[in-house]
Formats: sequence, structure tokens, C-alpha cells
Amino acid sequence: MTGGASGLGLAFSRHLTGLGARVWALDRDPKALAAAALESKKIAFLACDVGDELQVVENVTRIERESGGITVLVNNAAVLMDQALVSKVGGKVRTHSLSDWNETLQSNLTGTFLMTREVAAAMIRGKRRGGLIVNISSISRSGNPGQTAYSATKGGIDAVTVTWSQELAVYGIRVVGVAPGFVETPMTSRIPPMFLEGLRARTPVGRFGTLDEFARTLQYVIETDYLNGKVLELDGGLRF
Ligand SMILES: NC(=O)c1ccc[n+]([C@@H]2O[C@H](COP(=O)([O-])OP(=O)(O)OC[C@H]3O[C@@H](n4cnc5c(N)ncnc54)[C@H](O)[C@@H]3O)[C@@H](O)[C@H]2O)c1
Repeated sequence: MTGGASGLGLAFSRHLTGLGARVWALDRDPKALAAAALESKKIAFLACDVGDELQVVENVTRIERESGGITVLVNNAAVLMDQALVSKVGGKVRTHSLSDWNETLQSNLTGTFLMTREVAAAMIRGKRRGGLIVNISSISRSGNPGQTAYSATKGGIDAVTVTWSQELAVYGIRVVGVAPGFVETPMTSRIPPMFLEGLRARTPVGRFGTLDEFARTLQYVIETDYLNGKVLELDGGLRF
């Protein structure tokens, strides 16, 4: 589980340990890791920046050794740095920062690429046949004003979900995406409350999703062997 020390990643990890799974939760935030480790003794928390090739290789090698074979990878880690490409505020033209663009791509897309490459290679080398890669996408995957970098990464994640599902099927590895609408986590706490309320009001079911609903969706993805190469939308019917 990447991004496993907070929000959805922590909820996913807790749900899966509750079902009897052994979970290794990777995250780059030391404070979140320490806090989560205090509360969730059954999860193995490891410090790892998924955008850093060396850290990914070392951590996947370690988990492979300790677990005896990785069966499921959830690419959940992501950053959100809302910005329009270009905007005019108070007569001044602002442009999207290149460093925010690069950092978003590094964590969200390169992180998904590196983790999947290493885990899929370990699955193919291993004694157990097959496995599952779950990519956490977003309702922003088809584009959303103000989210230039974030929506680009989520669209990219959807594309590699299809590509990898076709490339890896021969090794018995499924690849599935889950595209959340909204669920309250530390990530959404950075969205202005008024904007968030507007989104809630526009959601046809009249509320955001719960952590439990997302965790049970992940369980469904894990348990449903015929599901492959698709991105499930869990968003209460919201459309941008
Ligand atoms: N919360 C929502 O409403 C929502 C909506 C759509 C999609 N999502 C997606 O769900 C996933 C989880 O989001 P969340 O709301 O729980 O966010 P969150 O901010 O609560 O948790 C994300 C975690 O990822 C970690 N992380 C970020 N970059 C990392 C990196 N390079 N290496 C390792 N760890 C890294 C962070 O430290 C954090 O602990 C993300 O992929 C997000 O895009 C969330």
C-alpha cells in the first residue's frame, strides 16, 4: 500500500489487516508514519518516497523477502497542488509553477510507474503465479479546471491501467483502477471549505463517500478475478 499512513491508504490498510492480510504501508511523511504506527500495530509501516527509484527498489526487495511473495499492490500515494495553467488575479497574470508540476508528476505518475515495475517484476520472478495491481485514480481523470498537474497524472494513471492490464495478463497479473469522487481525508482538508460544500451539494446522492465504502470497493476488486483493465468510478454520480 503506498501513501498508507493517511486517509484512504490507512483505511485500506486497516480494512485488509482486519480481513487477515499482511500489509506493508509505505509513505514518505515521517509524522504521519509515526502517528499511524502507534494506532495500527498489525500494519508494517515503512518510510519510502515512491518517486525515488532507489527507495522503491530497496523497499520492494525488503517486502518481497519478508512476505515470501507480494500478491497485491495498491498505488494510492498522491499529492494535490491545485493551480490553473494561467490565471489573471487583480490585474496580474499568474502561471503554473514548473516545480509543482514536476513534483505532482513525480509522486503520482512516476511513483505508480516505479512501484508497479518493481512489484510486477517480483510477482513474475516469484513462485506464486499472478497478482493484482490497483491504481487509485480520481474523478479529475478526465480534466478539471484548477487541477492542471493532478488531472494530468490521473489521466495518465488510467492509461497505464489499460496498458499494463494487457501486458501483464499473460503472467496472471490483473490491473484495475478505482476513481474516487470525494471522501474526507487530509487531502480534501486542503480544499477551501466553500468549494467543498459546493461539490457536496452537486453530488447527486447528496454526500461524499465514506472510507468504509472505498475500503469495501477495494475488497471487491481483490476478490473479483474477472475484473481487469477497467477503472471503477465511485463518486455518488458527481460529474464535473
Ligand atoms: N480524498 C478524496 O476525496 C480523493 C478523491 C479522488 C482521488 N483521491 C485519491 O486517493 C488517494 C489517497 O488520497 P487521500 O485523500 O487519502 O490523501 P492523503 O493526502 O490523506 O494521503 C496521501 C498519502 O500519500 C503520501 N504520499 C504523497 N506522495 C508520496 C510519495 N511520493 N511517496 C510516498 N508517499 C507519498 C502522503 O504522505 C499521504 O500520507 C490519492 O491517490 C488521491 O489522489 C482522493
